[in-house]
Amino acid sequence: MPPPLPPEKQDSSLMREMFSVIAPRYDFITRVFSYGMDMRWKRQGVELAALPKDALILDLACGTGDFSQLVSGKLPAARAVAADLTHGMLRLAAARGVRDTVCADAMRLPFQDGTFDAVFIGYGLRNFPDLDRAAREIARVTRPGGAFVSLDFFLPRNAVWRKLYLSYLTVQGACWGLLLHGKPRIYTYIPDSLRSFVSMDDFSARLVKAGYGKIDARGFLAGGIALHHATRR
Ligand SMILES: C[S@@+](CC[C@H](N)C(=O)[O-])C[C@H]1O[C@@H](n2cnc3c(N)ncnc32)[C@H](O)[C@@H]1O
Repeated sequence: MPPPLPPEKQDSSLMREMFSVIAPRYDFITRVFSYGMDMRWKRQGVELAALPKDALILDLACGTGDFSQLVSGKLPAARAVAADLTHGMLRLAAARGVRDTVCADAMRLPFQDGTFDAVFIGYGLRNFPDLDRAAREIARVTRPGGAFVSLDFFLPRNAVWRKLYLSYLTVQGACWGLLLHGKPRIYTYIPDSLRSFVSMDDFSARLVKAGYGKIDARGFLAGGIALHHATRR
């Protein structure tokens, strides 16, 4: 039996509450947790998507809108729609110059079938209550031949590294949580959510089931982070 979902994953209002508290410090903490390499991985994801010049993309669970910004910076004629559950995150994305922001739940996307040339998601799917349902929803709003790019944390395969990695994320999360918010548990949701998340390979298999082909998965930090690129069948 997989471990039960943490409470914030079972209830979107708890998820929204948690990310509203995190939002003002989110960019700082993302760079810290990714050892400063986050933007490089996201840039790689944008390259892999091979977007047309005038692409319409969805930056899902956008947070402060990194993917929207990267796509607009690379392709000035492209249009990015940034969607998130948390208003505080959407406000920050808008303040960074992301023009189209939408408050939306990834489990019920307010877009028609085949709307987007590509969907990008950074550290998002791990937080959703039902991965398969979210993957089907993402596939539904992507046009045939369109791209899907996801960057997320995963449990490393090597048992020793896995233990070290989880301990490191827990200790680091607790220290930063205490320092920035006075709440040691606020960032330990990362290692907690990893324990109930699928493996890199299982993630690829679920994308195939949801309607994607040609899955390319590349790991970083010895499998602690992975970038998945898939093409909608
Ligand atoms: C860890 S942040 C990722 C932010 C950004 N994508 C990045 O790459 O840095 C996760 C985001 O997912 C959003 N989120 C969580 N559950 C969601 C859902 N069901 N639908 C849409 N967004 C959700 C949160 O509000 C939060 O902004």
